[in-house]
Amino acid sequence: MQAWVIGNWKQNPATNSAVNALLDDLLTKVNTEEQANLQASKNRCKLMVAPSCVHLSTVSTRLAGSSILCAAQDVSTYSASTGAYTGDCSAQQVADAGATWTLLGHSERRQYHKESHECLISKLSHAFSQNLGVVFCIGETQEQYDNGQTLDVINEQLSVIKDLLTQQPDLALSLSENLLIAYEPVWAIGTGKVPTVAEVSETHQYIKQTVASFADTTDTITVLYGGSVNADNANSFASDAMIDGALVGGASLKADSFLAIADAFS
Ligand code: G3H
Repeated sequence: MQAWVIGNWKQNPATNSAVNALLDDLLTKVNTEEQANLQASKNRCKLMVAPSCVHLSTVSTRLAGSSILCAAQDVSTYSASTGAYTGDCSAQQVADAGATWTLLGHSERRQYHKESHECLISKLSHAFSQNLGVVFCIGETQEQYDNGQTLDVINEQLSVIKDLLTQQPDLALSLSENLLIAYEPVWAIGTGKVPTVAEVSETHQYIKQTVASFADTTDTITVLYGGSVNADNANSFASDAMIDGALVGGASLKADSFLAIADAFS
């Protein structure tokens, strides 16, 4: 299975010119690498970046023709297309702006925007209706981790997918192609703290089994790890067969560290 390394730029960079500078650096390095070693670039993991909504068109236009895909960070829960939803961007709009995937359920959305089970079912449904792939983010808080509740929390969060499949049995969804799960312990995001590789591996195995059971499939479910992944620790995560890539926040804002993480998973 080809691994994925995805950069979640969150509410960064601050300006359009800084976005373009990051893209300049990223594209120069990726193109140079591809020209220098065609075979190595073919074996490289899949790369994707998720800029803020306001930068989506710029980023997707500049990435067109490159090997780097473009994702949105979220879509509206209320409508897949248009409507009176001030401040929202719909799945149709982000797809039109060039996104082919979207993140959903990131812990920062769950925390700051109180995203609920029903809201996430709706977002997944809207995203799939517009042919967007979904990177569905899950993970436990520090308190839940300390109380040994990780797998219970994961199970509850994954039930969004189960309920969506129950509500829409005709949904043409390939669990191996249209969906990536990103396991991100909340306590590891932006903190420099990381779980052990063995802990991540065990949780990923549980996630793969659980999602496969919803659709009664033997498809391979891709599960990425996120939370303080950097150029120094990426190799250790990449060495585990259950860890199919990384969702990277802070370290994705520099081309060097993002591509070093990509190298680890390639
Ligand atoms: O979506 C990315 C994650 O929240 C990880 O962020 O790499 O800055 O810890 P981080």
